[in-house]
Amino acid sequence: MLNWKLRSSHKAKVNSPELEKAMSSYLKTLASPEIGFFGLPNRKDLVEESQKVFNQFKNKKYFVHVGIGGSALGPEMLLSSLGNGSGVQFVFINNIDPDDMCRKLDKVDLKEALIYVVSKSGTTAETVAAMAILMNALKDAGIKENQYKDHFVFCTDPVKGELRRLSKEWNVATLEIPSNVGGRYSVLTPVGLLPALFSGINIQDILEGAEDIQRHLSDPKIGASFFELAQWLKELHDQGINQTVLMPYSSLLKDFSAWFVQLWAESLGKSGKGLTPIPAYGATDQHSQMQLFMEGPNDKVLMLIEVEKFHNDYSLKNSLSGEAFKNLAPFKLSDLMKAEFEGTLTALQENGRHVVHLQIPSLQEEYVGQLILFAECLTVMVGELIKVDPFNQPGVEAGKKYANAWLKNHQ
Ligand code: PA5
Repeated sequence: MLNWKLRSSHKAKVNSPELEKAMSSYLKTLASPEIGFFGLPNRKDLVEESQKVFNQFKNKKYFVHVGIGGSALGPEMLLSSLGNGSGVQFVFINNIDPDDMCRKLDKVDLKEALIYVVSKSGTTAETVAAMAILMNALKDAGIKENQYKDHFVFCTDPVKGELRRLSKEWNVATLEIPSNVGGRYSVLTPVGLLPALFSGINIQDILEGAEDIQRHLSDPKIGASFFELAQWLKELHDQGINQTVLMPYSSLLKDFSAWFVQLWAESLGKSGKGLTPIPAYGATDQHSQMQLFMEGPNDKVLMLIEVEKFHNDYSLKNSLSGEAFKNLAPFKLSDLMKAEFEGTLTALQENGRHVVHLQIPSLQEEYVGQLILFAECLTVMVGELIKVDPFNQPGVEAGKKYANAWLKNHQ
């Protein structure tokens, strides 16, 4: 089971009236019909629909995922942490850089590809642009509009938007992003479930892991340490310690940090408040950002994630005489990772840094499911405490408006 411990000289005021109030508001939010992410582990219908579409298209050789922000970061994170090389080749079209697009499309035989277009709104310019390019490429490959149903699958709002309309016109299989689940909270919907199935990931186990967290974090008694963590983050935020480093000691969780960055930044950064997320991963970033984390301004909370057991390991046995080689010879590679994790944790504490030690037994579906729902719930609870709405993104909308105006003026 996922575990977390605070390693800091700061002690949170766990009996404060503000925490009581935020807890009751958080519990109300989770139970509200307008907020759907917390109930996703129980949405068996979404699993069944995803499985059906997978069965229909499972012989495809390429999976082209089109989407941006919450419509891409979750699936990318699932695949890099859990994907087991099912043989399907994945391409993520998640930006509008023409050179990147060219490099990615060059790898794909479109006749053998499933194109999964994911957009909750169905109007996101980056996604619509990629779709236009792919339609042109299909046309060049001799594929006609009445054959699109063999090449496209959509994932969008159940009733609204352009993709929903097109799905009917083209008779394209279309999976649902529930209306009450926002983009960055949507990884446990078909947004993430369909690509996960194509990558050989056991989606039931992910959801079961998330269900464990659901039980813990909706009960103030069992989840006491979770509420303490949220209050601790809030109090540090109020003291100007308002940057959050997420540093898993695992290369395969590097994209988990990228996913967390969006969740934390877009949910909490508003009304002049927010906790700035900083992605990192160990041990690599010990040779990059760690100097700053250790001795730079003490304005950061460091969340270190330890993976207790790796799937693979290597002996460091060797007969070389140099000190650096001799020291490592009795150990395995995972021992070195453990030593570096423990060493960094101790040194950070000695330097008066504020650390959260998160621990999962291994990189398996159930534990990644636990990490996902834990991070989402923590975001919502911190949002309650710093008094921001963690489900909107007004700042992003403003930028979109000006970009559209620019396009109109330059027609
Ligand atoms: O979290 C969010 O709501 C956003 O990051 C969206 O996921 C992103 O803007 C893409 O939107 P859409 O899925 O509507 O294309």
